[in-house]
Amino acid sequence: ADALKVGIAGLGTVGASLVRIIQNRANELATTCGRAIEITAVTARDRTRDRGIDISRIQWFDTPEQLAREADIDVFVELVGGAEGAAANSVRAALERGLHVVTANKALLAASGVELAKIAEEKGALLNFEAAVAGGIPVIKALRESLTGNTVSRVYGIMNGTCNYILTRMEKEGLSFADCLKEAQRLGYAEADPAFDIEGNDTAHKLAILTTLAFGTQIAADEIYLEGITNISIEDIRAASDLGYRIKLLGVAQRTESGIEQRVHPTMVPYDSVIAQVDGVTNAVAIESDILGELLMVGPGAGGNATASSVLGDIADIAKSRPGAQRVPVLGTPAAALAPYKRAQ
Ligand code: NDP
Ligand code: HSE
Repeated sequence: ADALKVGIAGLGTVGASLVRIIQNRANELATTCGRAIEITAVTARDRTRDRGIDISRIQWFDTPEQLAREADIDVFVELVGGAEGAAANSVRAALERGLHVVTANKALLAASGVELAKIAEEKGALLNFEAAVAGGIPVIKALRESLTGNTVSRVYGIMNGTCNYILTRMEKEGLSFADCLKEAQRLGYAEADPAFDIEGNDTAHKLAILTTLAFGTQIAADEIYLEGITNISIEDIRAASDLGYRIKLLGVAQRTESGIEQRVHPTMVPYDSVIAQVDGVTNAVAIESDILGELLMVGPGAGGNATASSVLGDIADIAKSRPGAQRVPVLGTPAAALAPYKRAQ
């Protein structure tokens, strides 16, 4: 079969890791996918920056929008970030052109996921976003595919690596909030604007996506009760510890009789629970459903390789897909059939 031609917009923490992995594992990928995966187009802001990757033989485009509209590609991979601007415009343009899209951009999906899913479904294109929630944990695939037929009652967990990294190091090493945040940024865990991490918005974006996949309702990120970790001090962490608890930033979505409840806030979790033992950049997502029971997934939640692993899985799924085959609905339920969101009273 012909090689799958991939265009990548954004060559930062995730994009550069992805390029390195695809180039280093070209033979294995060609064997497992039944066809080669070839990066034929790239773009970022600064063409001259040394990214530690060899892109000298790949066509460079000046903007994500231009790449999405003009490049000779089968798949557009968006690793730029942001709910608006270049990321949003280029993803829309790629889908309008009928290209498959892979993105790690939870801010964009939380804001415009339903609209983008509609375009993808109309065009028969795939829109894959495993990396957008909990980094390397395959939670989208679990909700979108593996749990089909289950009625989900609750989804919750630790969904922001930066916050969990900060809380862990503050507790275990007595480091200051500011120093832990700086280190999370250096390691490539934090968002371009880390306020999204520490104020809880990033967890809210991810939770809103999971809520839609779990309950088949419209995405409702604005309906989430939101409280971040900026007011948590080492004294709070120690006081919780003295009582047998650890403080974790949790996202929780559940069905109630009156509607759906979604909240993000620091939570005291008993020491002997699995979630309390999840440390550092690791994330954990629990899904409670009627046929399966409780599923708990724990794994790397942020960072170049963990995130690129999910992006690559999404690309490989496209490489293996057959043209004209029935597509899994982007948001688990066809976009046109999503129920209205009803907030719990
Ligand atoms: P970075 O900030 O490291 O990289 C962003 C890349 O996009 C850079 O290469 C930058 O160019 C490029 N870029 C930014 N704005 C523009 C623009 N207007 N036009 C063209 N290129 C632009 O981000 P990450 O790699 O960390 O994150 C990328 C996406 O993945 C985001 O949506 C993020 O939320 C998501 N994500 C990140 C995870 C992580 O652990 N880092 C985990 C899961 C998801 P230049 O390099 O020239 O500045
Ligand atoms: N900034 C995010 C985090 C990246 O720390 O979890 C992964 O989505």
